[in-house]
Amino acid sequence: DLKGFAFDLDGVIADTARFHGQAWHQLADKVGTEWTPELADSLKGVSRMDSLELILKAGGHENDYTQEQKEALATEKNDNYIKLVETLTPADILPGMKNLLDELKDNGYHIVLASASKNAPKVLKYLQITDYFEGIVDPAKLSHGKPDPEIYSEAAKLMNLPANQVAGLEDAQAGVESINRAGEVSIGFGASLKDAAVKFDNTSEVSLAAIKEQMA
Ligand code: BG6
Ligand code: MG
Repeated sequence: DLKGFAFDLDGVIADTARFHGQAWHQLADKVGTEWTPELADSLKGVSRMDSLELILKAGGHENDYTQEQKEALATEKNDNYIKLVETLTPADILPGMKNLLDELKDNGYHIVLASASKNAPKVLKYLQITDYFEGIVDPAKLSHGKPDPEIYSEAAKLMNLPANQVAGLEDAQAGVESINRAGEVSIGFGASLKDAAVKFDNTSEVSLAAIKEQMA
């Protein structure tokens, strides 16, 4: 039986995947990489520096910048991202998600955050939902980002639960793979996701009952 839920943030709790996309698009234009829907999708769930590498590679620019220049580019993207994030309010919580958090809390489930984003605590604060989470996996302490299972394994540890009692919620293919490799139950949002154990086209369809129904 499930006892805990590990939430991704960007694209699951709020539509911040769109903000990451906007800020990366600007960066891609700057380095001369063509911005395509496929490139945009491949960045979802992926860490800041790994995302930058993917963008440089997509345009054949991976050898055009020193490490120091790459760090400056990543910082520039993050500065632009933060400007967008600062506009967030509780009204930006995606449909169904506040309700799900309340249901899980009221029924005594453990809830932690498993986001790759170093901006996650800030985003939770703007959305005013920090108090739902008993822990946040610190992405700065991970050796490997999604799709590696490390982040979701750490989430289970934070809750003191075995993997098979934990479900992870994701909008990204890299995230679903991370959950599955950690031996947890993957809940995916988005029609194009592959391999999610439980699937919803969008967040407005989710509830504890709807999750249980698909697992039965
Ligand atoms: C993930 C996003 O949650 O966090 C990615 O899906 C992002 O798009 C990654 O690159 C890292 O975020 P940040 O805020 O630390 O740059
Ligand atoms: Mg996400």
